[in-house]
Amino acid sequence: MKILVTGGLGFIGSHTVVELQNKGFNVIIIDDCSNADEKVLEGIKSISGKMPEFEKIDLKEKDKVEDFFKRHEDVKGVIHFAASKAVGESVQEPLKYYENNIGTLVYILKELSKKNNANFIFSSSCTVYGQADEMPITESAPVKTAESPYGNTKQMGEEIIFDTCKVNADLKAISLRYFNPMGAHPSAKIGELPIGVPQNLVPFITQTGAGLRDELSVFGDDYPTSDGTCIRDYIHVVDLAKAHVVALTRLLEDKNESNYEVFNVGTGTGSSVLEVIASFEKASGKKLNYKIVARRAGDIISAYADTTKANTILGWKAESTLDEAMQSAWDWEKKIRKIQD
Ligand code: UD1
Repeated sequence: MKILVTGGLGFIGSHTVVELQNKGFNVIIIDDCSNADEKVLEGIKSISGKMPEFEKIDLKEKDKVEDFFKRHEDVKGVIHFAASKAVGESVQEPLKYYENNIGTLVYILKELSKKNNANFIFSSSCTVYGQADEMPITESAPVKTAESPYGNTKQMGEEIIFDTCKVNADLKAISLRYFNPMGAHPSAKIGELPIGVPQNLVPFITQTGAGLRDELSVFGDDYPTSDGTCIRDYIHVVDLAKAHVVALTRLLEDKNESNYEVFNVGTGTGSSVLEVIASFEKASGKKLNYKIVARRAGDIISAYADTTKANTILGWKAESTLDEAMQSAWDWEKKIRKIQD
């Protein structure tokens, strides 16, 4: 069965391609390579033993999207990762984000709306909850005004899919609201490849450990949390990838309860920034150079998932601990920086 993975050369996309192949799906990737490298295909092949099909297409080119679906009528499901994801950049260049993340989503949904049976998984984010009033966060927590155009594209994306599903019973869709993905494939053959200075905590930590950065700035230690630093729900990217396969299978097997559903994808455990640093020190056997600095504007205090819905309805549960995820992140960093133990 053929599955289209847009953004399949990216961090979460590439891990999902491997998990799809492991379950026997034939994968075709679309990626414009704006934030990913074609070499990732080799990494995927060396894990799964199968080279996925690949087409370099910019999804903003509507005619090419239309042409793709004409040429690949056998595509039974789409997992849509392709999007821009830098929060700060989205504030500076909002239209880039609305065009990349919303325009392309609309084009794909238009093509899927022509099919008799279409199955669609959307990369959403816990960012839609903002600072939720209650922890852990359930899917029924209110969606708060987005802090950035990036966050807004996830909220709007969900609404666009919901509205489209309402008028098209042949389209089935699931939005997965990711918490904080981290780590790499345990083989260290694929992983995260941030361009420039990483904005996210874990790649910044591993790059500091590898000597690419002098020190990590911890953004604030005066939050009302156990150790004063912010709490997040860090999920191993392989667990997250598996959640996509389970969600897609639910749609393909017609097990969905309505034709639009939403699930949190996290571990259910919150970890502080200092706990993440401690986990890195354990994995690497090194002391991390860090200093406490002022809070980062726009940061929320705490966000971790109530995963009951995904556990019971999808039958999916995160398996890896923070330490296991950190070990894989460090193994990957060592591999790409050619660091010997
Ligand atoms: C960020 C984005 C969010 C996006 C998510 C994707 C912001 C405000 N939010 O979330 O929209 O969906 O990434 O993974 O950018 N930290 C440090 N020092 C650093 C980097 C981070 O102390 O150099 C702290 C942050 O203050 C935060 C935690 O580490 O408490 C995690 O930060 P980060 O990895 O950027 O993720 P989020 O802020 O949760």
